[in-house]
Amino acid sequence: MGIRSRFMIIMAIIFGLVTVGIGTASYLFSKKNALQEAQSKGQLIFTYIMATQDFYRTKQQPLIMEIVEKDRFYPELMSGFVLTRGTFDNFKKNLTGYDFKQATINPLYPPNKADQWETELVESFKKQPELKSSEGTMQKGGETYFYLAKPITVEGKACLHCHGNPNEAPKDQVEIYGTKNGYDWKNGETVAAYVVYISVEEALANARRGAITLCLIGAGCLLVALLGIWVFMDRFVVNPIVRLSSKAEEISLGKNLETPVDIKQNDEIGALANAIERLRMSMVRVLKR
Ligand code: HEC
Repeated sequence: MGIRSRFMIIMAIIFGLVTVGIGTASYLFSKKNALQEAQSKGQLIFTYIMATQDFYRTKQQPLIMEIVEKDRFYPELMSGFVLTRGTFDNFKKNLTGYDFKQATINPLYPPNKADQWETELVESFKKQPELKSSEGTMQKGGETYFYLAKPITVEGKACLHCHGNPNEAPKDQVEIYGTKNGYDWKNGETVAAYVVYISVEEALANARRGAITLCLIGAGCLLVALLGIWVFMDRFVVNPIVRLSSKAEEISLGKNLETPVDIKQNDEIGALANAIERLRMSMVRVLKR
């Protein structure tokens, strides 16, 4: 294999590896940024939902309980969970890519039912009572989401009045939700989880696109660089060496001794050319003698 081809192959491998390395690093960096952004958005949403619920529970609910006649139950007025669900349903209408669920193993309101992944999440909170929150990425409907979750635990009578024995639950509630599900919860039991989902699908696709663009630019630069190296090697290395080697051969055979070596370069090849030129002149002198 010629010196030029060998050099080109080595350069192509190095450039190729560097390009792929830069592409991969760019993807990982963008992915990390996308997840960090999703996390801070999720925290913002989560904090806001919880603040709404907290305000409702501490400030509004006690007043509402005083105003509403005993044993009447209006979900929109009297349940913090209906408040957060309803608020987020409106939020989702205006902004896509986000979801919030009070995922429950045995809910009163069927759309709150935990799917398989959420059931495992609630189970993991149940198994590890010291775990106060959980976050990470997950797949839903073929899309990647960042999620933030917190457990929901039954706090005695305050919850069991409505989620305990269906015969003791407010009759309006039973009328709306029936008696089949959402009851017989146990005190202290983790029954559900708040889960906020933030789609990172688009951000990850952008990261992939960015990395591919970088790789393509790298491949373009690689081609230009290889072309440049090819021309340079041809002009300043391969061609002069081929000419010098045939000149040296001619001198060794005593042919064409009058024609001088016509390579003027200020480098190692130039030095070799000068040496061969001196050799030619000594040869001429020796033969003349
Ligand atoms: C006054 C009755 C009442 C009380 C007290 C009550 N809830 Fe509920 N809860 C409801 C109703 C009604 C819903 C249905 C919400 C909906 O339609 O989205 C609900 C929904 C929920 C949900 C969503 C899953 C589902 O069942 O649809 C969770 C989780 C929940 N409650 C937990 C609790 C906890 C924990 C407490 C105690 C801190 C509590 N609830 C106290 C009436 C009550």
